[in-house]
Amino acid sequence: MTKIAPSILSADFAMLEEEIKDVEQGGADYIHIDVMDGHFVPNITIGPMIVEAIRPVTNLPLDVHLMIENPDQYIETFTKSGADLLSVHVEACHHLHKTIQHIKSEGIRAGVVLNPHTPVSMIEHVIEDVDLVLLMTVNPGFGGQSFIKSVLPKIRQIATIVEKRELKVEIEVDGGINPETAKLCIDAGANVLVAGSAIYNQTDRGQAIRSIRVEKTG
Ligand code: DX5
Ligand code: ZN
Repeated sequence: MTKIAPSILSADFAMLEEEIKDVEQGGADYIHIDVMDGHFVPNITIGPMIVEAIRPVTNLPLDVHLMIENPDQYIETFTKSGADLLSVHVEACHHLHKTIQHIKSEGIRAGVVLNPHTPVSMIEHVIEDVDLVLLMTVNPGFGGQSFIKSVLPKIRQIATIVEKRELKVEIEVDGGINPETAKLCIDAGANVLVAGSAIYNQTDRGQAIRSIRVEKTG
């Protein structure tokens, strides 16, 4: 039931194909791709050309996390590159509803992302239009940071809305996920876990994936 989305941000970029196949064989559900522009976040990473290069090497859905300004400008480009799910930050969108409709009009799944400080109320009126809500559990920009525990009540809030309104929205968390924090997030109501360093810093990626794929208790 719990889905695992390894973030290739912590992979060895010189052998990306092998690194992706390794987590696919290890049981990953999505490949999480962190796109950063050096403006919205203080780091520069992957662009659409890399997404396009990755597309043929895996059968897994490509979960593309846009940490960029003006995401609207790049929706078609990332769709053509092979993204299956495109997530945009609330903080980067002036017309969030319009951006979500734009993504969906391209025929792919749409996700919306909240930074740790951004309240759940910001997406209350668009949650019925999205396929996934991504809650950042670190400040975006880098892998290997510590989990911010104060995000847990936000996971519960989203889970309550999803349950009450009987929505099919996935709840994903991203940042500082390890076996211990995975459990906290799953118990709070998350069902997709992004993990970079907890998977790619281990030699046995299958074992690393199994160690964070905890199921809800109680
Ligand atoms: C952070 C990225 C994450 C990052 C997570 O801005 O959005 O996806 O790769 O890395 P870990 O799991 O190492 O915190
Ligand atoms: Zn991410």
